[in-house]
Amino acid sequence: MCGIVGYIGKGCALDILLNGLSKQEYRGYDSAGVALMVNDKIEVFKEEGKLINLRNKIKPHASKLLSSHSGIGHIRWATHGAPTTLNAHPHQSTCGKVVVVHNGIIENFKELKEELEKCGCKFKSQTDTEVVAHLVAQEFAKVKNLTEAVCLATKRLEGSYALCIMHQDVKDTVVATKRNAPLLVGVGDGEYFVASDVPAIIEYTKKAVYLEDNQVATIHSDFLGIMDVEHNIITPHIEVLPWESVSLSKMGYKHFMLKEIHEQPDIIRNILADKLHSSDSDVTLDGVNIDKVMLKHLNRIQVVACGTSLHAAIIGKYIIETLCDIAVDIEPSSEYIYRKTLTDKNTLVIGVSQSGETADTLTAVRQSKKRGSHILIITNRPDSTMAREADSLIPVNAGIEVSVAATKSYIAQVMSFYLLAIHIAQLKGTVDESLTAALKHELIMLPMKIESILSHKEQIAEIAKIYSGFKNFVFIARGINYATALEGALKLKEISYINATGYPAGELKHGPIAMLDETMPVLSILMTGSVYDKILSNSEEAKARNARMIALTDSEDEKLDELFEHIMRVPQVHELVSPIIAIVPLQLLAYYIAEYLGKDVDQPRNLAKSVTVE
Ligand code: AGP
Repeated sequence: MCGIVGYIGKGCALDILLNGLSKQEYRGYDSAGVALMVNDKIEVFKEEGKLINLRNKIKPHASKLLSSHSGIGHIRWATHGAPTTLNAHPHQSTCGKVVVVHNGIIENFKELKEELEKCGCKFKSQTDTEVVAHLVAQEFAKVKNLTEAVCLATKRLEGSYALCIMHQDVKDTVVATKRNAPLLVGVGDGEYFVASDVPAIIEYTKKAVYLEDNQVATIHSDFLGIMDVEHNIITPHIEVLPWESVSLSKMGYKHFMLKEIHEQPDIIRNILADKLHSSDSDVTLDGVNIDKVMLKHLNRIQVVACGTSLHAAIIGKYIIETLCDIAVDIEPSSEYIYRKTLTDKNTLVIGVSQSGETADTLTAVRQSKKRGSHILIITNRPDSTMAREADSLIPVNAGIEVSVAATKSYIAQVMSFYLLAIHIAQLKGTVDESLTAALKHELIMLPMKIESILSHKEQIAEIAKIYSGFKNFVFIARGINYATALEGALKLKEISYINATGYPAGELKHGPIAMLDETMPVLSILMTGSVYDKILSNSEEAKARNARMIALTDSEDEKLDELFEHIMRVPQVHELVSPIIAIVPLQLLAYYIAEYLGKDVDQPRNLAKSVTVE
């Protein structure tokens, strides 16, 4: 979703802003823009589409812009108003002197716009953001101080925002503030950076101050002042960012998604090296502050998440209930936050989020925290808002995921659930020694098995070619792999825009079977174990309706060749860890289908990497 970058110092602001925006491109966006202070005048350039369009627009003017040492930039993911050049940020006040970039949504923008129009403000865009530029200009006209004008303006705003603002009459100054959206100020040597995401600035500095809600940073090239909107002075708390300089390189792969799929075996190895050394050793989860006393009083676990993270949570439910005998409820965060939830201090609430910034999940865990629940966050971003507010934390350590379609972070989240379940079972004393030993052994074997799938990826590419012309798909599974069906279908939808649906195989006959004929491929996730025969019967039912049958299986049963037109075979695996193996061919299938269809695999239309609006 949207990305902000700001700079003030001695370097070339244009290069730093464009570079910072390019490092946030992976978040998904549809237009981009920058505002630079050039010889005491603000110059704004914006353009719809990808960053390259903005670069081309700037090119003829570049020589005069290179001397600028301060500016703000933005990539926008449209919420209010179409993804056009006019709606791209920065937005300007009527006088053109105030420029604003914004992440989030100003919920009361309609009322404010009406009021500002009555005062003579001329609006150029359909965005909610533009009101901020006019409000700041209006307040500045009264108080003649940009920081104060921003404080006064933001007091009028409802909703969420991270804002970076400049005024043409206030030299050498950038003002930044936030509420319910992340924003940090990077501290360099005689220079400062503002960013909504670490990759934008990490190659320039590893030191940063994370702004808290309602704090306002006034940034000059040689000084950073922070206060809250009530004028209390805040001492900046400079942290060292837990990131190495981020190489957003495809390392020879055609797309980040393919590279990230290939990183999965090593990610599992790293997780295990850190938390589970051998099948005889205990799991160690340093950031998890759950003890025996807490577990004694625990009556349930609730897991809130969205999208792919929600699918990881469904597997988590299965495994925690199996190993720990504790009831686990799963809910999409966006549903959880708008109903009465029976959460209290005896509930453990687990928030799962790759980005740690998803607005629905953040709201859900905050609501539960207010009711006294212990909050455990499973995230790939230990520097995220969710991680910072958590009582317990499991960083999944998948490394920055660039492709909008989550792959490696999903596997790492699922791994985290296995380790958490074993950890809770150890604490609770519900450990079934032989089962956990088998499970640990299977986890340790996973990287090798995934590598074997990856080494045969051409076979999946062939199948993808055959099926890339179909308009609809059904994925069926049962038990622990139901989530695999959902996730496989989501991957296909996200990057190829094909209508794919995941069903519990037993549900097929309760309605969806009506859709089946020779135009509908049915992909059966047929992993050996307790529900294998059941899914086989459900697959027969689908075959009887002329559906095109594909299997994903670890079974070597040759009879499957009669039932299925195409079979993706994977190494044999224990049923309990089979989702980690089964998802890999489905990630590849979605990837290759999208590739054949010529889709923008890493940045699918309409999607954002981090969804910071509800
Ligand atoms: C995954 O491929 C999707 N891009 C999306 O469903 C994602 O999982 C969802 O938006 C939740 O994001 P989070 O994990 O960062 O909270």
